Amino acid sequence: MEADNFLYPEHGVSDSGVLKYSLSPSYWSLLSQDVMKSFLAEVKTKGWQKAISTSSNPKIKALYLFTDSPSRADGTFYLSLNDQSRVLDLGSGWGSYTFALSPRVKEVVAADANLESLEFIALRARQDNCCNISAVQIEPLDFAKLPFVDGIFDAVIMNGVLEWVGSHLKKGDPLKIQQNCLKEVSRVLKPGGKIWLGTENRFGLRYFLGAPDDHLKYYSEQGIAYTTLVPRFIASLITKKKLGQPYRTYTHSLAGLKRLLGKAGFSNLEFYYPDPDYRSVSPKIFPIISSEVSANITKRQPVWFKVITFPIKRFVFCDSFFVAARREK
Ligand SMILES: C[S@@+](CC[C@H](N)C(=O)[O-])C[C@H]1O[C@@H](n2cnc3c(N)ncnc32)[C@H](O)[C@@H]1O
Repeated sequence: MEADNFLYPEHGVSDSGVLKYSLSPSYWSLLSQDVMKSFLAEVKTKGWQKAISTSSNPKIKALYLFTDSPSRADGTFYLSLNDQSRVLDLGSGWGSYTFALSPRVKEVVAADANLESLEFIALRARQDNCCNISAVQIEPLDFAKLPFVDGIFDAVIMNGVLEWVGSHLKKGDPLKIQQNCLKEVSRVLKPGGKIWLGTENRFGLRYFLGAPDDHLKYYSEQGIAYTTLVPRFIASLITKKKLGQPYRTYTHSLAGLKRLLGKAGFSNLEFYYPDPDYRSVSPKIFPIISSEVSANITKRQPVWFKVITFPIKRFVFCDSFFVAARREK
C-alpha cells in the first residue's frame, strides 16, 4: 500500500514485511504465543503449506481449512468488487478472506492488532507471489483509530471480528466502543463503499437450546451457556463469577445490528443467513428480507402481508448473519 494512503509514517517494518502502525501490543490466537513463534520459524524454512501439513500440533493442522478456503469469502460476491477495488480485511486473522479476495481485486490490506498472524500473511503472500497484499498491524479496534486516510476503501470486511471489539479495553461500554469502531470503518470507506460483516446472532436458536457462548470459549474451555440471551448486566454477573471478568464480547440480534450500523452512519442494510454459519468453509447463503426490499414490499403490500412478514423481519433466529451495509454518501 502506498505511503500517502496512511495518516502518519509507520513505527517500523517487521522482517517479513508487516507495516507496524501500533504501539499497543496485543495477542489474539487459539495458539499460545510460543507455539505461534516456532510455527512461524517453520513457515520461513519449509513454506507455509508444508509447515501446516507436517505439523504435529492438531490445532495448527486444523487451521488449514481456514487459511486456504477460497469459498469462505464467497459471500463477498454480494459486494460489487472488481479488479479496480481496494479492500480492507479488518481483523484478518490468518488471511482466509485476504487470500480469497486477492485474485479478484486490485489490492487487499490485511489489518489486525495481532502481529504474529500478520507475519503469517506477509510470509504466505511473499511465498505465493501475491503482490497486491499488504499486512498492517493496527491498534486494537477498541481505540477506533485506523491509520488510513479518509475514503480509500471500496469495501471493508469484518468476519468474526465485531464481537471482539470491546474485549481489549477492560472498561467502557462495549456497545459504544463497537459503535465508534464502525464509525471509524465508515470514515475509511469511500462514499457508497460497503462493509461486510460476518457475526453470530445473539438470539441464534442454538443458544436457546443450550449451546455455549462461542466467545467465552476463548477465555475458558468450560462452556458457559445463555449469556448472549440474558441482559448484558446479568451476563456480566455470570462471567465475573465463572471467569473473574465482566462480559464484553457483545453479539447482536437482527434489530440490534440494524440499530448499531444505523448509528454508525450505514444505510441500505442487507441481511443474509449463512447455513450452517458464517465460519463454514462453503456456506449456503439465503437473503433475509432486507430493510430496503422490505420497505418497498411494505409500501405495495396489504396489511395481512405486513403482519406475516413482520416476525420474519424482526425475529430471525438463525445462528449467524452476513450483513452488507453502505456508507452514506
Ligand atoms: C475469529 S478471528 C477472525 C479472523 C478472520 N477474519 C477470519 O474470518 O478467519 C478474530 C480476529 O480479530 C482480531 N481481533 C480480536 N480482537 C481484536 C481487537 N480488539 N482489535 C483488533 N483485532 C482484534 C484477532 O486478532 C483475530 O485475527
